[in-house]
Amino acid sequence: MKKKIALIAGGDSGEYSISIRSAAMVFAEIDSEKYEVFVVEIKGKDWFYKHPDLGIIQIDKNDFSLRLGTEKIVFDGIFNMIHGSPGENGKLQGYFDMLGLPYTSSNAITSALTFNKAYCNHIVRSTGVAVSKSIHLFKQHPCDLNVLLQKISLPIFVKPNQGGSSVGMSKVSKKEDLQAALEKAFAEDSEILIEEYIKGRELTCGAFEYRGEILRFPVTEIISKKEFFDYEAKYTENMASEVTPAAISEDTKQKVHETISKLYRVLNCKGVVRFDFILNEENLWFLEVNTIPGMSSASIVPQQIKAMGYSLRAFYSMILEETIR
Ligand SMILES: Nc1ncnc2c1ncn2[C@@H]1O[C@H](COP(=O)(O)OP(=O)(O)O)[C@@H](O)[C@H]1O
Ligand SMILES: [Mg+2]
Repeated sequence: MKKKIALIAGGDSGEYSISIRSAAMVFAEIDSEKYEVFVVEIKGKDWFYKHPDLGIIQIDKNDFSLRLGTEKIVFDGIFNMIHGSPGENGKLQGYFDMLGLPYTSSNAITSALTFNKAYCNHIVRSTGVAVSKSIHLFKQHPCDLNVLLQKISLPIFVKPNQGGSSVGMSKVSKKEDLQAALEKAFAEDSEILIEEYIKGRELTCGAFEYRGEILRFPVTEIISKKEFFDYEAKYTENMASEVTPAAISEDTKQKVHETISKLYRVLNCKGVVRFDFILNEENLWFLEVNTIPGMSSASIVPQQIKAMGYSLRAFYSMILEETIR
């Protein structure tokens, strides 16, 4: 019997369309001999499957089942491809835990913590990994710009505290640009994170625990044609080059891999996650961890999986094997 999998996509964030693209890639590559896959779109309270003949069918939220005519589909597992809320921040994880439905990503607390960049930074810093100096601001507690600039030095990054794909993010080098950057970030989230800019090379690397062992992927260097790896550089062809494996020394690669193994364990990650870093002479700086990294054809993780010598098909089966036991 084929296992029935709900491949969930969509979500309520600015990364909606990226999620749809990631899910399309997973759907195209997943082993259809082993798995029967249903793409379930989740958008606000609208949770649905598009049947080729029957049209749009809503999911029964009592047990996340699907009724196709007289047949009731009960899923064996969830392939989570929702970037941002509610798939990457623990909300759906809590719901699936209550139903006892296994899913491919980290649990509710890990997802909520890692999606909150400011709180995640505190934990990561406490393990001895270098993290940029930062300030966490809340919309309901306005802050004087002069006071702010006494605590942190320009240039800085202003970002929504809970976001992705560089949406709402700015690099600020002049005090005059700070107000607009704060407003842009606050338009995306009620909390923002201001971080000191770290000059260096940008590295990113995925990891996946398989049969008790953490597989570390080849390291990728991101060379953006924009000032940083912004939304345009991420999703427009030729706006960034992604070099896998990165041209780095064996020592640096070891350092990235050791850091990843430590953080994967400390944060209690599950499934495929991707860590972003900046490397300079001083240190390897942690930027963030993505617990639902992009899987579209333009994304980094599929490139790293292929560079390791795996087919996506084999790898997605490994992910589902870990999920459904
Ligand atoms: N403190 C920083 N110093 C230098 N570059 C940064 C810093 N923070 C973010 N960036 C740049 O912005 C990009 C997006 O930031 P990141 O924190 O990874 O957010 P997102 O979740 O949107 O990917 C990074 O890939 C990097 O290019
Ligand atoms: Mg990032």
